Amino acid sequence: MTPGLDELPRERTRLLDNLGWVRRNVGPVTPERSDALADHMNIRRGEVAEVVSFYSYLGQPVDVVRVCTGPVCDCLGGRALLERHPGAVEVPCIGHCDLAPAMLRGDEVVPAVTYSTNHGPSIDLLGPDEPREPPSLEPDRIVAELEASGLVGYGGAGFATWRKWEAVRKAPGPRVVIVNADEGEPGTIKDRYVMELRPHLLVEGIEVAMAFAEAEEAYVYLREEYATARERLGAALAARGLPVTIVTGAGSYVCGEETAMLESMEGRRGMPRLRPPFPAEAGYLGRPTLINNVETLAHIPAILRLGGAACPRTRLWSVSGAVARPGCYEASVDVTARQLIDDYAGGATEEIGAVVPGGAASGIIPPAALDAPLTREGLAPWGAGPGSAGVQVFPASYPVLRLVRETMRFFAEESCQKCTPCRIGTRALEHVLHELEHDRPAMPGWQLEEWLVAMEKGSICGLGQGAPVPLRGAMRHWPELFAPLLQTR
Ligand SMILES: Cc1cc2nc3c(=O)[nH]c(=O)nc-3n(C[C@H](O)[C@H](O)[C@H](O)COP(=O)(O)O)c2cc1C
Ligand code: SF4
Repeated sequence: MTPGLDELPRERTRLLDNLGWVRRNVGPVTPERSDALADHMNIRRGEVAEVVSFYSYLGQPVDVVRVCTGPVCDCLGGRALLERHPGAVEVPCIGHCDLAPAMLRGDEVVPAVTYSTNHGPSIDLLGPDEPREPPSLEPDRIVAELEASGLVGYGGAGFATWRKWEAVRKAPGPRVVIVNADEGEPGTIKDRYVMELRPHLLVEGIEVAMAFAEAEEAYVYLREEYATARERLGAALAARGLPVTIVTGAGSYVCGEETAMLESMEGRRGMPRLRPPFPAEAGYLGRPTLINNVETLAHIPAILRLGGAACPRTRLWSVSGAVARPGCYEASVDVTARQLIDDYAGGATEEIGAVVPGGAASGIIPPAALDAPLTREGLAPWGAGPGSAGVQVFPASYPVLRLVRETMRFFAEESCQKCTPCRIGTRALEHVLHELEHDRPAMPGWQLEEWLVAMEKGSICGLGQGAPVPLRGAMRHWPELFAPLLQTR
């Protein structure tokens, strides 16, 4: 038996933690170590092996070098960096797009994060980082203030926060609060900024949420690559003595989808659930669960203090790519890409070719859209949306087809494989785009349309449903690139 393993907790919900412990303290999770843990936890060996195979990082040593080849890192030299580090593992996004091309050596980020030199004014309006007593209001009043504030979820889906909070309160307890700190969306680094620079604000938001939901327990599902965030948030939680557990995620983008996250936390593969029921009715271990993104919760104390109608409507914009000062900036919810680039991020470093406004599935807009407000309404005419506000600026020298193909590859690698249109469609479209880069039409335009519709309508979660969005955006704004497909019958 592996030394120390017999001390580990046996509840199924601790499986991911235990696997992380084995990786850190014993070594990469080999089949033998997986079996030993399964025997200890009294779970079938095959079930644990199945979970291990879902989370790629469990098989890697703790000091592994991981090089990011997400779209922004690819654009700024990620592949050359990979070649310079033989033995390094290629990973899709490590949440440090402001440092692109970025890599991790174990827990250490390279290049190192130094906010004073790498970043601009960052988070000003959310206020200083200091522990405070959370505002205390009656639940009905909280819902009313949230409604008046217009706050929508900043995890990407943009669902009205007050509606979700009201639904959770209506479901009978015991209830649970979960903070989604998985932040796997390429180009999105804002939650890391909150946890590293304003951890007390998030803690305050968690306290409000727990009191509102009358929840006795809360969890933060935090992506594994965020070591500094884990340390600083952990210290801020400990200072308030809160019963909040940090669950370390396991390097899978789809685990940011809320029902996949619940599966992962319950000790299974992170595959999204069919809905209904929604987590607000039946979430973690079947209990009504309030799930919010880190940034959403960080805005709530100010809304309750100032009043929903009076509170300035801002959000945190992650800006990366071809700009002088990539970083995270707090700005109005209706800011334009040009304002973010010029007034906050120090201007473009090259002629701009395309902008991804809010993460991989948010669309791709041309330079002509730089003055559109980055709201749902402002971006709809451009076939895009604000998503998670991860604004990625691509230079004209970076081919649009490569950007769309890299994005599709990301979706294909991160698909959980549960539904056929997503599993096969993302790979098929990656192939089509690869062939197009070489002027080869791999399928006629009508057939491509059929694939896109099948994915949009037949996928059960936002990954498969949203994967066509960037491709549709490119087809609309750069139709000449797709001419070979349209000429084929
Ligand atoms: C594939 C996929 C990945 C997601 N990743 C994240 C994530 O990393 N962080 C996050 O907060 N929400 C993510 N979401 C959205 C969550 O499902 C959910 O809407 C969100 O956590 C709810 O919190 P909010 O209402 O405060 O935004 C993802 C959704 C999908 C479909
Ligand atoms: S759409 Fe893709 S990622 Fe989502 S459940 Fe289906 S296969 Fe999994």
